Amino acid sequence: DMEQITSHLQTLGISSIPTFPGVQLYPQHNPVDVYRAVIIQQLQTITGAEPEIINNAVQWTQDLKHGDLVLPVPALRLKGKKPDELAKEISEKFSSPLIQKPTAEKTYVRFFFEPKSYAKLVLPTILKQKGDYGFNPNLGLEDPKDPSSRKKKVIVEYSSPNIAKEFHTGHLRSTIIGGFLIKLYSRAGWDTLSMNYLGDWGKQYGVLAQGFEKYGSEEELQKEPVKHLNEVYVKINQDNSAELKPLNALKDRQKELEKLKMPKKPVKPAKGKPAEPVEPVVQEEFTEAHEKELAELPAKMEKVEQELAAIPSIDEKARQFFARMYNGDKEALQNWQRFRDLSIDAYIKMYARLNIEFDEYGGESTVKEANMEQAVVVLEKKGISEDSKGAIIVDLSKHGAPTLGKTLVKKRDGTSLYLTRDIAGNFERYEKHKFDKMIYVVASQQDVHMAQFFKILELMGEPYAEIVARCEHITFGMVKDPKGQTMSTRKGTVVSLADSLDHAKEFMHDVMRKNDDKYKQVADPESTADILAISAIMVQDYSGKRINNYNFDLEKMTSFEGDTGPYLQYSHARVCSMERKNPVPFEQLLAADLSLIMSKEGIELVRTLAQWPDVFLNTYKTREPVTVLSYLFKMTHVLSTCYEAKDASNHNAKTMSVMFAETPEKKAALMALYDCSRQVLGNGMRLLGLTPVERM
Ligand code: ARG
Repeated sequence: DMEQITSHLQTLGISSIPTFPGVQLYPQHNPVDVYRAVIIQQLQTITGAEPEIINNAVQWTQDLKHGDLVLPVPALRLKGKKPDELAKEISEKFSSPLIQKPTAEKTYVRFFFEPKSYAKLVLPTILKQKGDYGFNPNLGLEDPKDPSSRKKKVIVEYSSPNIAKEFHTGHLRSTIIGGFLIKLYSRAGWDTLSMNYLGDWGKQYGVLAQGFEKYGSEEELQKEPVKHLNEVYVKINQDNSAELKPLNALKDRQKELEKLKMPKKPVKPAKGKPAEPVEPVVQEEFTEAHEKELAELPAKMEKVEQELAAIPSIDEKARQFFARMYNGDKEALQNWQRFRDLSIDAYIKMYARLNIEFDEYGGESTVKEANMEQAVVVLEKKGISEDSKGAIIVDLSKHGAPTLGKTLVKKRDGTSLYLTRDIAGNFERYEKHKFDKMIYVVASQQDVHMAQFFKILELMGEPYAEIVARCEHITFGMVKDPKGQTMSTRKGTVVSLADSLDHAKEFMHDVMRKNDDKYKQVADPESTADILAISAIMVQDYSGKRINNYNFDLEKMTSFEGDTGPYLQYSHARVCSMERKNPVPFEQLLAADLSLIMSKEGIELVRTLAQWPDVFLNTYKTREPVTVLSYLFKMTHVLSTCYEAKDASNHNAKTMSVMFAETPEKKAALMALYDCSRQVLGNGMRLLGLTPVERM
């Protein structure tokens, strides 16, 4: 590839691409980097600025009318000259066969590349690099300059549903975002490991076991394990909460009183803003009577607990059952193992629909008791934890994290907790995989848990602190119903994932059936409908920043209009259909005379396609799928303007239409451009985990 690029540059009188100390360019992956090199060289001569500073200053543009690259002159940090004068001077002195005379606009210098040579550099690169175009496998190397250096290792823990409980939209988001991160890191050259950390341990298995005894059906279990176990779990929980009502009432009261007791913080005005008049919050006084009530609550709760233990209640039986599991009782573990295995089988099928595959199915059950014990010992030894009525807690407000409050690390009965399992699990994963980086993709509802968990590891010192320094929590917002309301199991607004995938699939299938001619040509309409539905769901998820909430709106996401998954698929299928109707041999595409497609729209499309490697690089920095998605929508919009482009002299002729191409040469040039567009669109879609379709 490099040879082809250099020989092309030689025809333009450029003997080699200059390199600079401290500047990492990748001209073999990114055509724009050829231009960066030229700009750095010239700006260095004109202004005397350091290459590294120039490289950081030169930016790509979101909107091509501002240039292919733009330099905000003050970013060169040069003393003496006024930026607007320097901008003029640069534009006057700059000269390269690759780049038009730059325009100076106030303190900006805008660079527009020569379209013909740009097209000749960009399109053959895309045609040859195909599915690799835009990606950069050097980024994940220990030393990006040395291709033989070690690939860094990243673990992404994501999805992590709870067996028996429902697979809710929070898990769906974690799955989609985590799947994207794995693809992103692997296309950046990292060694990746997909990890699923199942919620597969705890008293709830004692609850589920009783539920299965009472409500379970072997047949249903085999057929749809995730759905059936969830139904059983919901039923037994209703029975359970009826029994637990008196105890929960006491617990709620305790929380209420503790809140009342907390000193009220005055509301601080935001910096730089005048204090807004605050409505005085009328809050009940914390009285002596309250104090007394609060003090008596633990004894009351204990009494209720004893009563429950005597019935024996579902909760108590669950506790006993889990104690047996915990102690390795074969019989108690048998059902649990079966539920777990069947659930994993079902998850694997569902993940496959989303183009996701896990390298490792771990879970809370796999965290070793000894490592949790060890962690608790370290916490005690270092004076981080303290005893609280037989339980062990950490008060993070005493350790420099006032907002993180108190948290339990060991219960009074000695059993471990979600948090303790995470603490020990973090260490175990490092022992096993020696990762350079580990990402936890977990919903924002657990921000506090994640912060507590990381903080405790940091306080524990080495080796824990060094390991957690390699870890990161990637958080995301909630999925709401179409009206923007929180979905809740109680209100029945939660839809099971499998159900909503199937529902979306049916919906898409109906849409496809409406066009009978096309429908008959689709080889496997069932699976195409499924792919379209999944695209719809994923694109909706990616449409905002990760932290934003969004509404799960089936109607909106499955529409072919607007920035939706089906629209992207339609754009892809449309180019594919054009390629089927106008086959041009690869060698002819490669040799096409690209000066024939230099209409305003054609140039814009070439420039947009050339941006893809920079978009990838930027996505690697933001790790926001929306960075890719916005680009794909912009690109497909430019593509569709090409289909409609009119000839300046003849307003009836569609000058970019393959069907109306005057000569075979023109046709080859157009097809080269469209083939490249299809390639870039497909590369972007696959990075997002979508499967581009060829017909629909
Ligand atoms: N199973 C948990 C839940 O559904 C999510 C696990 C997140 N990961 C972790 N390491 N805590 O709430």
